[in-house]
Amino acid sequence: MSLPRLLQRFSLLVDLSYAFKVAFLPTIKRIFHEPSLLLHPRTLSYIFMSHVWSFFGPCVDENSAAEKAKVITPYAQGVVLDVGAGHGHNIKYLDRARVTKYVALEPNVLMHPNIRRTADAAGLNEADGNLVILACGAEDTTSIMTFLGGYQPVDTVVSTLTLCSVPEPQRTIKSLVSDVLKPGGELLFFEHVQNSCPHIARWQRFWSPLWSRTFGGCRLDRPTHVWVQEVGGWEKEEVWASDGESEEHLFLHRSGRFVKSA
Ligand SMILES: C[S@@+](CC[C@H](N)C(=O)[O-])C[C@H]1O[C@@H](n2cnc3c(N)ncnc32)[C@H](O)[C@@H]1O
Repeated sequence: MSLPRLLQRFSLLVDLSYAFKVAFLPTIKRIFHEPSLLLHPRTLSYIFMSHVWSFFGPCVDENSAAEKAKVITPYAQGVVLDVGAGHGHNIKYLDRARVTKYVALEPNVLMHPNIRRTADAAGLNEADGNLVILACGAEDTTSIMTFLGGYQPVDTVVSTLTLCSVPEPQRTIKSLVSDVLKPGGELLFFEHVQNSCPHIARWQRFWSPLWSRTFGGCRLDRPTHVWVQEVGGWEKEEVWASDGESEEHLFLHRSGRFVKSA
């Protein structure tokens, strides 16, 4: 392997070191003030990830802006469920004339104030009923339906850089499509996915345990674009690569627009 290629395979060490730099001390400080947090590993992981995402989120969003705009703006409409809404970065890609309600699904409650602030600036708020923030995970489709008032309550499911983190991803995607999305509704995604080149996929598998512990469960080795396709029952399906992105990337992206049969 050439030196530039080898460096590329290790390039995420830079991100990992920044993540530790920005999140480690604040997390340790929280434990110092509240030692019982040591008994709650999930809460600790949320604290760590909220610092990581405050640092990385704006820059990742800026780098993804063209692809997010291409997949979200023309198609998101009606009741939009944003799976793993993070800090609400996707709100700016919504065409407000077409969206009646924005549902931010975000299990990390430390991110909710940012979602609320961003939504408010876009004219979406809970008092007016056009903003709903849910603290459950995407896998908990029963709670999503209960909160939103029944079976298949959503016109559009959006997922950007989140299907890499949800537990039981194949079951979760299937359940979101069958139980939460309306017939004729659309699933729109922009995700980093498993590389189809076996050599790069091996590196993705190699890094995933360390990466997922640092970045809130995110794995590099999930072919989520294929799993969406495998759900079946689509009237229309499109998957595309990001403009100008090397196919050799450890973070290879795919965008997709899937329309559920009516
Ligand atoms: C990399 S961030 C992406 C945030 C946002 N979608 C964006 O593009 O800016 C992944 C988000 O998924 C959330 N997440 C993690 N596990 C989840 C789950 N089980 N269900 C829904 N969201 C989850 C994380 O808390 C985090 O906010």
